[in-house]
Amino acid sequence: MKTIDIELPANGYPVYLGRGLLRSGDVWERHLGDGKVLVVSNETVGPLYLDALLSALGNRDVEIHVIPDGEQYKTVETWQGIIDRLVGMQARRDAGIVALGGGVVGDICGFAAASYMRGIRFLQAPTTLLAQVDASVGGKTGVNHVRGKNLVGAFHQPATVVIDSASLDTLQGREFNAGMAEVVKYGAISDPGFFDWLEEKADAITARDPQAIDYLIERSVRNKAEVVRQDEREAGVRALLNFGHSFGHAIESETAYSAFLHGEAVAIGMVTAARLSETRGICEAGAASRLSALLEKFDLPVSIPAELDIGGLADALALDKKAVASGLRLILLNAIGDAVVDSESTADQILEAMNDSRA
Ligand SMILES: NC(=O)c1ccc[n+]([C@@H]2O[C@H](COP(=O)([O-])OP(=O)(O)OC[C@H]3O[C@@H](n4cnc5c(N)ncnc54)[C@H](O)[C@@H]3O)[C@@H](O)[C@H]2O)c1
Ligand SMILES: [Zn+2]
Repeated sequence: MKTIDIELPANGYPVYLGRGLLRSGDVWERHLGDGKVLVVSNETVGPLYLDALLSALGNRDVEIHVIPDGEQYKTVETWQGIIDRLVGMQARRDAGIVALGGGVVGDICGFAAASYMRGIRFLQAPTTLLAQVDASVGGKTGVNHVRGKNLVGAFHQPATVVIDSASLDTLQGREFNAGMAEVVKYGAISDPGFFDWLEEKADAITARDPQAIDYLIERSVRNKAEVVRQDEREAGVRALLNFGHSFGHAIESETAYSAFLHGEAVAIGMVTAARLSETRGICEAGAASRLSALLEKFDLPVSIPAELDIGGLADALALDKKAVASGLRLILLNAIGDAVVDSESTADQILEAMNDSRA
């Protein structure tokens, strides 16, 4: 088992990583406290991993709450169901919620834990690659509103994150690859050595070599931990994690969230942002094609579909909530492994990069 410490001024916590950790009574015992426990999972993950987790929780006072599977259920209604459940079981301030599932389960549970009695203990058991390398660490929680993703939420750090990498064995290939987009992102924004390693080990990773997988999870979590340590509330450097995300969100919203998984849209977005960085002359030529080649090894899309209207994407970009009045704020690359926040791109340059990225 590996332990990665998330260092924060007030509320640091350990992330544990290893195969089979869901069954480890010891790690749960260390962080559960004495109160009642509500384990929340969904209809897909529950049948696969609830038994393993429950066997580790021993004789505790545990209740189970299963929510439907899907981003469309990341809503205030699902949050309300969890709150009702906590009220029904007379959970007090010493209670805890364990989130067993992907980023959707984690985000909703985190928000329920942040808001119930102004904040109770929250433990993450992420089961998708995306949740293991990104969503479960850092304390962003929330639900969607019909008018926008993650519009309602709070910062609430977990008490611990327990990553059982063996749970990825049942994850569908497409979901796994979407998580790889966020992994590649860490290399691209701040860890050039990791980017090299990913290029070297791409075949082992696609073959799901357990050692390679554990290493890439660990290195990704360390990258995220460092960013969160420097900037817990996204006042500065944490924004770099949005590399590829402005374009990605525009693509997701223009395709009604149905054509691409988040990581897939981010893959296209990162390549577009890298192209823009080259057009702007702030990045060495060739970075975009190197990035795109690596993403393609994980079967990720790297071009904006030809049928998508660039005008519509441009509108969606301007609506991005990360935009600021002075100009579109984007994360660009100086080089592979060195990202910057930048607001100097002209609309024409952005349009040109999007056109260059079309299939
Ligand atoms: N809080 C953050 O910092 C943060 C960061 C990134 C993303 N997110 C959020 O995370 C969500 C996306 O997370 P996701 O990609 O994990 O999606 P998800 O939670 O919808 O999971 C994807 C699919 O995989 C299934 N699944 C999960 N684990 C499985 C397993 N081990 N075996 C088989 N199937 C499994 C799920 O049931 C689901 O159908 C979005 O809502 C996004 O906004 C949050
Ligand atoms: Zn993302």
